[in-house]
Amino acid sequence: MVALNEVPRRRYTAGQTPLQHLRRLSAELGGPQIWIKRDDQLGLTQGGNKTRKLEFLIADAQNQGADTLITVGGVQSNHCRLTLSAARAEGLDCHLIVEEDLGPDGTSLGPAGSNPPEYTGNFLLFDLLDADSVTVLGHGADLLGEAEVLAEKLRGEGRKPYVIPVGGSNPIGALGYVDCAVEMLDQFAEAGLDSPTIVTPSGSAGMQAGLVVGLHSAGSDVSVIGINVSRAQAEQEPKIVDLVDSTAHFLDLPPVPRAATVGLGDYVGTGYALPTPGMVEAVRLFARTEGIVLDPVYTGKTAAGLIDLIRSGRFSSEEEVIFIHSGGVPGLYARAQAFA
Ligand SMILES: Cc1ncc(COP(=O)(O)O)c(C=O)c1O
Repeated sequence: MVALNEVPRRRYTAGQTPLQHLRRLSAELGGPQIWIKRDDQLGLTQGGNKTRKLEFLIADAQNQGADTLITVGGVQSNHCRLTLSAARAEGLDCHLIVEEDLGPDGTSLGPAGSNPPEYTGNFLLFDLLDADSVTVLGHGADLLGEAEVLAEKLRGEGRKPYVIPVGGSNPIGALGYVDCAVEMLDQFAEAGLDSPTIVTPSGSAGMQAGLVVGLHSAGSDVSVIGINVSRAQAEQEPKIVDLVDSTAHFLDLPPVPRAATVGLGDYVGTGYALPTPGMVEAVRLFARTEGIVLDPVYTGKTAAGLIDLIRSGRFSSEEEVIFIHSGGVPGLYARAQAFA
């Protein structure tokens, strides 16, 4: 087994993120006891789950002698914002290749320029953080293919690019959440939480896969429910399983049982990043009861899933549920209309 503290790592957050009991929200929903892991308070520009992944990815880039980062995502990508923020902190160049959103009915609007991004939220921050380039492509474009073309061009100019996949979700990025699982197990012990259930967003699946591997490797019986933000259950679960397997392999750990990888697909709505009534209710409820602001794309839909599971009797009132706030709040401003 490879020890996590032997893997090269940069540090972008001082100490642990808080684990907080949401008493008022729990009471409003009539139980279970809901706790929140505040990964929205991680370091780099306005925090969020990618900061944990980038601690390992940037160290790997530096070990390979990279001077330039290239990454990809949606026009309001939190991953692109945080990769760019890490690049600024490390003195690296950073190029972003982003894909326009789906149209309001969940269908692609065609070639680049059909659905141009608004100059707000993360897209505004790409400019303020002074990305070396931002290329906007039409929905459905081959973003990673374009990233490789750019990397080749930069190599030809004598640069040393390092391409980070969508969401930072490969076995190296997932190590950030293997580490988070260990951090949370300490916090659970301190708070007297015996066997809570973790509810987490599931997108490119690095966060969920890392958590599953981290919990399993620690011999914990804490279970993880992923709430999908872009795919049906049947499409998402094989992705989680693949990343769980490759991350466990990277760490030289025994295989993790398939039953540990659940990704519920009922809360996506018409498509990735498109608002749903459940998301709007959940964002308002967290804000009104606890003063905590969620994002509309990931944590808002995940909270909508959690609320629905509670209302349909999935948890008893004594059970403990850990909701991971994975960040993403700048994206709220790009979807303000959904709340008007
Ligand atoms: C704020 C936020 N939460 C959750 C996720 C999902 O994490 P993952 O892609 O590792 O499944 C993302 C991914 O972009 C994100 O930006």
